[in-house]
Amino acid sequence: MTDHIYWKNGALYLLDQRALPFKKTYISCRHLKDVVDAINNMTVRGAPLLGIVAAYGVVLGIQEIIQSRKSVKNSVKDIDVTKIVKKLGDTRPTAVNLFWALQKMVEAYEKYKNDNDFLEAMLEEAISIHVDDIENNRMLSLYGAELIDDGDTILTHCNAGALATGGYGTALGVIRAAHESGKKIKVIATETRPYMQGARLTVWELMEEKIPVELVPENHVGLLCSNKGVDKVIVGADRIAKNGDTANKIGTFMLALCANQYKIPFFVAAPVSTFDKNIENGTYIAIEERDGREVKYLGSKLLTVKEAKARYYGFDITPEKFITNFITEKGIIEKPFKKYIKMLFDLRA
Ligand code: MRU
Repeated sequence: MTDHIYWKNGALYLLDQRALPFKKTYISCRHLKDVVDAINNMTVRGAPLLGIVAAYGVVLGIQEIIQSRKSVKNSVKDIDVTKIVKKLGDTRPTAVNLFWALQKMVEAYEKYKNDNDFLEAMLEEAISIHVDDIENNRMLSLYGAELIDDGDTILTHCNAGALATGGYGTALGVIRAAHESGKKIKVIATETRPYMQGARLTVWELMEEKIPVELVPENHVGLLCSNKGVDKVIVGADRIAKNGDTANKIGTFMLALCANQYKIPFFVAAPVSTFDKNIENGTYIAIEERDGREVKYLGSKLLTVKEAKARYYGFDITPEKFITNFITEKGIIEKPFKKYIKMLFDLRA
């Protein structure tokens, strides 16, 4: 399952996740604006995927400027890459992978700007961000699968699968790897109002691979945790602070509280690029607030009084004390998180 994003003949093709699981349609991005729109309107989503898409977006932004210039010789000079990066960075504020990937593209720009094959080098950089993400997912999934027991029922929230990444997935990657290793597991997927990433994407991904999955509204979590219906919880992350406080899809905090109350292990699976070495704790994480209309409508169907006020935060922060372990491509992170996350940054440097 890696065909949801690809580059072909100077254009970026993205599987439109808003239409899944009912239709498999692609949008083609030839301009920077197409990528900015695809991120803003949720054609693509999921922290690692946002980073990858943004990296290709930088390539498109540069390509567009080069094509608009008459003289090929001077085409690379005076490209203000910071303007391109700002447009992409102004889309969704919470997923740190987006900013991490943009930073990598700025560094690549500085490195290659005087080369003859500058544009190709920038494309190579975007491709390597993409390929590395798939590899990291596979690695972290192998580590994570060790934490899963035969017969487990695992609850997951939102979609942290192949669709949310370059491919394979983080939380769903762990589930995939456990399944591939022959463990009999069952998954409970929460719907994830209002975008229904759980219902539309997680259920679809798992059913495609014949991994047993059952859908529940997220208001079932308290009951399921209390009646021994859940053995483990695994979620992805959008940004992890230096102390381990974790931003993920709204509702994750509520799940962590329930899991903690009933002593159910609560795992966060994420690549190292999701850890933010610039912030001490979760209070510094910007939480995206989206249009309240997204709560009032399900697709085009109005669910409430048209004039009703509505509020929609995309993410919440789970304090580190409710997290049992982090699962990364460098291994499983134990407590005290602050100490081991620091070591992770030292490995990344
Ligand atoms: O609003 P979304 O769909 O972009 O939110 C996605 C999530 O919260 C995921 O759990 C997170 O990005 C991790 S994806 C591997």
